[in-house]
Amino acid sequence: MSPRIAVIGCGTHATNNIHPCLAYADCVLDAVCDLDRGLAERNARLHGGATVHTDWRAMLDERRPDGVIIVGPASIHYEIGRQVLARGIPIYVEKPTAPTLAQARELVAIARSHGTFLMTGYMKRFGAPYAHARELIRSRAFAPRMGWLKYGHWASNELSDMLLVMSVHAIDLAIALFGRPLGVDARSVTGRGRCSVALTFRYADDRLFQLTLDSAQPRIQERLELSGTMGDDNALLVVDNVQHLELHRQGDNGIDLLAPSLADIAPRLTLGDIQIWRPDYAIPNMGQTRHFFQGFVGAVREFVDSVRDRRDPWPSPEEGLWAMEIVDAVARTPNGSFELPAAVMRAAAS
Ligand SMILES: NC(=O)c1ccc[n+]([C@@H]2O[C@H](COP(=O)([O-])OP(=O)(O)OC[C@H]3O[C@@H](n4cnc5c(N)ncnc54)[C@H](O)[C@@H]3O)[C@@H](O)[C@H]2O)c1
Repeated sequence: MSPRIAVIGCGTHATNNIHPCLAYADCVLDAVCDLDRGLAERNARLHGGATVHTDWRAMLDERRPDGVIIVGPASIHYEIGRQVLARGIPIYVEKPTAPTLAQARELVAIARSHGTFLMTGYMKRFGAPYAHARELIRSRAFAPRMGWLKYGHWASNELSDMLLVMSVHAIDLAIALFGRPLGVDARSVTGRGRCSVALTFRYADDRLFQLTLDSAQPRIQERLELSGTMGDDNALLVVDNVQHLELHRQGDNGIDLLAPSLADIAPRLTLGDIQIWRPDYAIPNMGQTRHFFQGFVGAVREFVDSVRDRRDPWPSPEEGLWAMEIVDAVARTPNGSFELPAAVMRAAAS
């Protein structure tokens, strides 16, 4: 049966990005709650017939939903989240999972001790171009050696806030593509309205993933480059601005420096080995809407399917902590190197 879902928090992000995705998930939006009744009424009206609440406890008592989505300040992800989990109800929380790593760990512990789960809304790992890159890696069609992700956005003066609120997205994406690093080298510059952070994730078998995180950019920037091999060929995968994917595969660039004539040293590009994907907006279709390629639909759907199937989501509650563990370590060691302890994984809730 389709799970009945309740949403706590009807502010900007819930309204623009989470509610619309519920239309593509196998669920019934049963209840919406906000301290501001007007916002809750608006979202119930816009997104179809849900009951309206201003008191989340009374809502849970009355409606008994199968899963709860919490989209508010980080403080309520923790404060409300822990009490919902203690009722054995799974939750989806926006990032940051909680104001501190200790509190996020506490949420995981509460979930596990009550046989349920939490999922943090790291939607980038579900974004269409990134999911495609991940599938190429998972299927071993593409073996990346190096990754580089540039993530730039508006000004932030405070390093731990910038890491927790914004960079955590980029860190989780690196984890989704390359896995949990063995260790991290960090270099940071902060002050005068800016935070600039360069992180190098170190992996087994000599793979490296570099993150260039920078606030005080004139516009939001996001660009991923992965270089490695496809079969015997070198390959480069680029995702620019989340919505443009290029895959270059080429074994030989055609330049023979010892060639006898100029004509022979002109590069012979094998254009057939370059693939490009980008959404076209001329005729709308679901897969080309930003909620799909930015990953919001995938994340919401994964939560709903996990509730329905009574299984752990992807990422699991434990894997969902990894990005925050790195954020926490970089905030404590903004210039230096650290190793990450082995991952703590738990069996799925029954
Ligand atoms: N993943 C993304 O791309 C992305 C983008 C934007 C925001 N976010 C996250 O979404 C969250 C919300 O951001 P926003 O910009 O929508 O904020 P917002 O202030 O517009 O919305 C938060 C809402 O929560 C409500 N609220 C607070 N306490 C409550 C309580 N006890 N009971 C019921 N409702 C309560 C507020 O009244 C408000 O309407 C933040 O955690 C933010 O980090 C994620």
